[in-house]
Amino acid sequence: MSIDTRDSFTGKFGVIAAAAGSAVGLGNIWRFPYVVGENGGGAFLLVYLLFILAIGIPVMLSELLIGRRAQKNVFGAFKSLAPNYPVFMVVGIMGVGAAFMILAFYSVVAGWTLEYTYLAVGNNLLDMSSSELSTFFKEFSESKTGPVIWMVVFMLLTGAIVIGGVKKGIERYTKILMPVLFVIIVVLGIKSATLEGAGEGFAFLFKPDFSKVTGNVILEALGQAFFSLSIGMGVIATYGSYIQKKENLLETAVSVSMADTLIAVLAGVAIFPAVFAFGIDPTAGPGLVFETLPNVFKHMAGGYIFSVAFFFLLVIAALTSSVSLLEVVVAYFSEELGMKRSWATIVATVSITLFGLMAVFSSSIFNFFDYTTANILLPLGGILISIFVGWILGKLKAKEELSAHGGKVRMIGVIMIILKFIAPIAIGLVFLNGIGIL
Ligand code: PFF
Repeated sequence: MSIDTRDSFTGKFGVIAAAAGSAVGLGNIWRFPYVVGENGGGAFLLVYLLFILAIGIPVMLSELLIGRRAQKNVFGAFKSLAPNYPVFMVVGIMGVGAAFMILAFYSVVAGWTLEYTYLAVGNNLLDMSSSELSTFFKEFSESKTGPVIWMVVFMLLTGAIVIGGVKKGIERYTKILMPVLFVIIVVLGIKSATLEGAGEGFAFLFKPDFSKVTGNVILEALGQAFFSLSIGMGVIATYGSYIQKKENLLETAVSVSMADTLIAVLAGVAIFPAVFAFGIDPTAGPGLVFETLPNVFKHMAGGYIFSVAFFFLLVIAALTSSVSLLEVVVAYFSEELGMKRSWATIVATVSITLFGLMAVFSSSIFNFFDYTTANILLPLGGILISIFVGWILGKLKAKEELSAHGGKVRMIGVIMIILKFIAPIAIGLVFLNGIGIL
């Protein structure tokens, strides 16, 4: 699939697989558990699920709709759908900024997964004790050479996929590999659930303690929903432009969101019982998954194979997401700034890698990129996207696009109310409250 030849996905599974490839990634397996852990567990999960349903799905639907209607990447889409409202082009610009910043820290974490794949292959993870694993992660992530090398390797892989157009191949393998990752997470979940002391982890994850809910916790839940679904910056709109008219967009949005959420929750089930069983601090932050899961592999029959497969597949999941992020920047450089596509890819890859170096060298820059993109840029994009479909495109055109497959449009009334009022107001309030302005 390339941006300049407007081909389309073959059939429903192709669309869902590609959008799910972008959505399912480190956000589900690395970010979700650590953010849940930092924000108090069960109550956060509940707020998160509510945001996925009430805001995530409608915004994802809006992006698909915008892309398919305009048959263009996100900048071109707003330009052609609303030439009189240049303000919406901001979504495209913010999207490029967000893609830049997300990739800068995403590639660092993906680099960690490459290191862990390497360690797993060499069978170096399974004989570390729980405290050794924690110390190892801290020392490794604070060191410079290893993380820089792996981050660069990951960015080169991402750049090579975008430039070489081998995405078709990736998509083909993803359809096989991602279900395998899913099975591994389920098996890990079962193992983790049967550990001694697992109950405490389940209680943490599923028993809401509403006293833990603050303005910032709600904002983090909203940000995680946007980040995990890849919405708010035009990635899904770009994919929407490749979807054939006969496909049902609502079904696509619901399936992708459900698959994404299921994987995140399963990752939580695999991790939290183990966190408590092995005495790890649930608020450990970005290292949580890396410090926890090797303990589970250690206690499993076939732990070696599982550890290698898990980290390898996590790298693949990260790649199918990073490719979608790089694509946004490359599309902008090539289609809006007129660069040749291959040159645009090189420039984007190199400059993002340089940004990524900052995230390796400074954990506050890492945290700044992580927090700002998920909790500020993506929700702001979400407000504009909702307003655009709710107020500018309007019900008639939205309905027309949604019913392009000839079927009847379900829930359009509710969706329009959400897009016109609920989503923009709720996101706005959560946002102002979370950053302490309200
Ligand atoms: N959704 C991806 C994940 O969960 O890993 C990350 C991501 C990809 C965020 C693309 C935003 C985006 F546009």
